[in-house]
Amino acid sequence: MQAAHLDVVRVGEFAWSTMEPREGQYDFTWLDRAIAEAARHHIYVVIGTPTAAPPAWLTSKYPDTLRVDEDGQRAQHGNRQQFSFSSPRYRDLARQLVTRLAERYGHNPDVIGWQIDNEMGPPSFDAETQSQFHAWLRRKYGTIASLNRHWTTAYWSETYDRFDQVPMHSHDENPGLLLDFRRFVTDTWASYVENQVAAIRAHADPRQFITTNTTHWGDPFNQYVVSRELDMAAWDEYVPDGHYRWLDEAVQHDLVRGYKNEDFWVMETQPAFVDWWSVNSALPPYAMRELAWQAVGHGADAVLYWQWRSALNGQEQYHGTLLGADGTPVPAYGVVREIAGDMARAAPAFAGTSPHSEVAMLQSYDSRWAIDFQRQQQDFGVVKEFDAFYAPLERYAQSVDVVAPDAPLAGYRLVVAPALNVLSAAEARHLADYVRGGGHLVLGPRSGMKDAWNALWPQRQPGPLTSILGGRVEQYYALESPVPLAGILGSGQASIWAEALSARAPTRVLMRYGHNDGPNDGNSNDWLDGKPAVITRDVGKGSITYVGAWLDPPLMQNVLDDFLRAAHVSPLIPGVSKNIEVCERTGEGRRVWILINHGDGAQTLRLPSPATPLLDGAGARETATVMLAPHSIHVLEAPLR
Ligand code: GAL
Repeated sequence: MQAAHLDVVRVGEFAWSTMEPREGQYDFTWLDRAIAEAARHHIYVVIGTPTAAPPAWLTSKYPDTLRVDEDGQRAQHGNRQQFSFSSPRYRDLARQLVTRLAERYGHNPDVIGWQIDNEMGPPSFDAETQSQFHAWLRRKYGTIASLNRHWTTAYWSETYDRFDQVPMHSHDENPGLLLDFRRFVTDTWASYVENQVAAIRAHADPRQFITTNTTHWGDPFNQYVVSRELDMAAWDEYVPDGHYRWLDEAVQHDLVRGYKNEDFWVMETQPAFVDWWSVNSALPPYAMRELAWQAVGHGADAVLYWQWRSALNGQEQYHGTLLGADGTPVPAYGVVREIAGDMARAAPAFAGTSPHSEVAMLQSYDSRWAIDFQRQQQDFGVVKEFDAFYAPLERYAQSVDVVAPDAPLAGYRLVVAPALNVLSAAEARHLADYVRGGGHLVLGPRSGMKDAWNALWPQRQPGPLTSILGGRVEQYYALESPVPLAGILGSGQASIWAEALSARAPTRVLMRYGHNDGPNDGNSNDWLDGKPAVITRDVGKGSITYVGAWLDPPLMQNVLDDFLRAAHVSPLIPGVSKNIEVCERTGEGRRVWILINHGDGAQTLRLPSPATPLLDGAGARETATVMLAPHSIHVLEAPLR
């Protein structure tokens, strides 16, 4: 590890049966040894609490701690995540163990932080959880009449007399129930985390951070809530098919940065390949380099690889590693050594720096879930639609914050909210204030349809923002085939989803749907002919715009470029070609650029100011131009004036 310039290791997650082989009997001698050995090689340690994998003595003595699936099946020992996240007994047992760990390592100078559990997983549907759900509903609604009203339970005779009659389902249910169930799951995971946070904080130095590792898009609970008591966000970045698409990864880094609006860690990424996809194809070496540096460019302060060495047996024998089962390097080791060596050299320049953006995208878990419960058009993937807006914004502005709808917005020139389907009254006020304060807001299709209870607003979309917009959605349509549209922002096609809008002066129509010349196959398209598709209204120095359709990528780029220019957003480095990624981190008096050529063509870039290359070894001279060979990475430092 030391030879590969690795200076941090995470250990212990899943090792409960080794830490506490019998109830109340602890053995940390092996962990003491591991930490001391790491320290001898100048490697810091993050301890993972092992609670995602309860030992056999625990699950056999306390079978009530085992998770129950939605179909009523109780989990068995022999895998991981087989515990119930809401079980008070499980939490007690976890707290006792974590307390021991914190007592022992909370002041250890070589231990720099804690990871709680590991990729928190599925909820449990046992009776204990259900009564907690009922108590949660009672706290939220106070009276059953209030629940009935907000969920419109008279529909299909769902009306409840008592909270304990409410079922617990994750699909095919009343939309109000489904959304509240997700929120309950979020709150339950949050308190699960907080139970361990409290145990650690009681004994650990405040310099030790506490985090947890999240997964792809932070599913399936609200990470803004779960991160509340954590010091730092972290995620596990995997590209299971081995095909690295830089924009798909960029957006997720920005998402995770938004959990706490701070830098974060990539707690795990793959050494070349994983073992859980259909074809576990390997990332090419250049993609491993691009992936790691891109993470840093978007605010990661560390990139860790999972895993170091193959375990001889166990479920993950085929997964990519840095060492083989024989304890000697496999090919990925060499690539990681090179990445880590470069990072070690550049690290001092990054201290105290972070990305800063003039553009924000609003990401709402409520909206994502609400659309997923009722897609209406099966191809309307909320993440896919988010990506469709993100890619043009990131290409132009080269930095995008992804934040919650209630995050402070005053510092942003442009705020874009694709499919903000669930829009609470408070969020609507917050957005209207932003516009009145001179901000530029763009809403995407399906926005402002539902209130905080996942009920339809009794106004058309965008609900409480209709009056400030001066227009509304007359009707939405799921599309089977594309519809043309054109206007002053260009022309192209809408697919998957299109809304026919209306506007009254001074709100202007920027684009309209055109006549569908395709075969008359009886689909929705004829309803859209000539109807407004994009409308906008100036509000003082600000504006509000509604884009009612899922636009094809070139048109989306045109449209968003126009909004970006109107909002006076300028690229960090202008004139870069399509597959070149520009990242900037700024801090006290300096900026660091990370320039990554993800493509196969070369480009020479002119920098806005001369900068010093950090990866070219000692004596590298300041330069104002950089030649980006295919798949090359350049890291440069410049004073910030
Ligand atoms: C992660 C998990 C690791 C390992 C890895 C394999 O999701 O946290 O423990 O299983 O996947 O890719």
